[in-house]
Amino acid sequence: MQKLTSTWVTVAAFVAVLAVMGTVTSYSVTLYRLFCQVTGANGTTQRATGPSATVSDRVVTVFFDTSVAPNMPWQFRPVQRSIKLHLGQEALAFFEAKNLSDHDIVGHATFNVTPEKVGLYFKKIQCFCFNEEKLTAGQDVQMPVTFFVDPRLATDPNTEEVHEITLSYTFFQSKRPEDAIDLSRFDARAPAAEIGGQLFNTQCAGCHELDRIHIGPALRGVVGRAAGSLAGYPYSAALKAARIVWTPDTLNQWLAGPQNFIPGSQMPMQVADPTSRQDIITYLTSLPRQPGRPAG
Ligand code: HEC
Repeated sequence: MQKLTSTWVTVAAFVAVLAVMGTVTSYSVTLYRLFCQVTGANGTTQRATGPSATVSDRVVTVFFDTSVAPNMPWQFRPVQRSIKLHLGQEALAFFEAKNLSDHDIVGHATFNVTPEKVGLYFKKIQCFCFNEEKLTAGQDVQMPVTFFVDPRLATDPNTEEVHEITLSYTFFQSKRPEDAIDLSRFDARAPAAEIGGQLFNTQCAGCHELDRIHIGPALRGVVGRAAGSLAGYPYSAALKAARIVWTPDTLNQWLAGPQNFIPGSQMPMQVADPTSRQDIITYLTSLPRQPGRPAG
């Protein structure tokens, strides 16, 4: 009983924090997502499957800069001004493009990095700049760029003094629009277990661990498990009595509004953004049934 009470005190504290967070997210889900995905300060990135084998202590700041060719009626801007990251650490930046005209336009981006000698060490994993891109009249999209800076930057005598890098993009109207890929694919991008893992760390891990009961029940293997069935966890009566099995669909409804989905249940948070919900569910589904290495 003692344990139960202290659990609910902690839960109440979380409710307060989440109420504040909720206000922020409802103003700008995207910025919030971005904040969570980009700030790797408290170790979240260690879990990401980074593209570089090593991550060094050395930190660089990457600034973002955008422009459009004269006469091209697009608005194009970086969502964040800069990102600080460790060499070898994978980072995600967003750029926003809007077609201000009343007709479809295909564009392609060119980019460069300054100081130019750093270009060798600036590695992009995903970028809209690899393709011809189409925006329909009035369409507005956010485009991700995933990148890292090669740790060898610090050992090259030519570049070891560099602490600031600027990544610049310019959009040009395309001359070969037949090859265009619709930029709206970024709105409907495949759910990514990796993004879901980062969201889990920032939004769920305060209450849930994968392999141990914390404030909430352990969540490894939750997909396929009957709701309210993990031995040893003091579920609410409502969740215990719910006759549902956790599937991607029921999890989606739960995360969208636990108390709506199961009235009387006691999880004091929700995930308003549908894409975030899908990413988190993809992450939970993708987990191996057994811990790969000791939890902790
Ligand atoms: C503030 C604490 C808190 C946060 C944050 C939180 N949960 Fe929960 N969660 C709980 C509690 C408490 C329960 C048990 C609810 C009950 O008994 O009614 C629960 C239950 C669940 C269940 C049901 C599990 C089962 O065994 O039936 C799932 C699934 C779940 N949470 C997923 C998530 C996910 C995914 C996130 C992140 C998006 C999250 N939770 C964030 C506290 C939290």
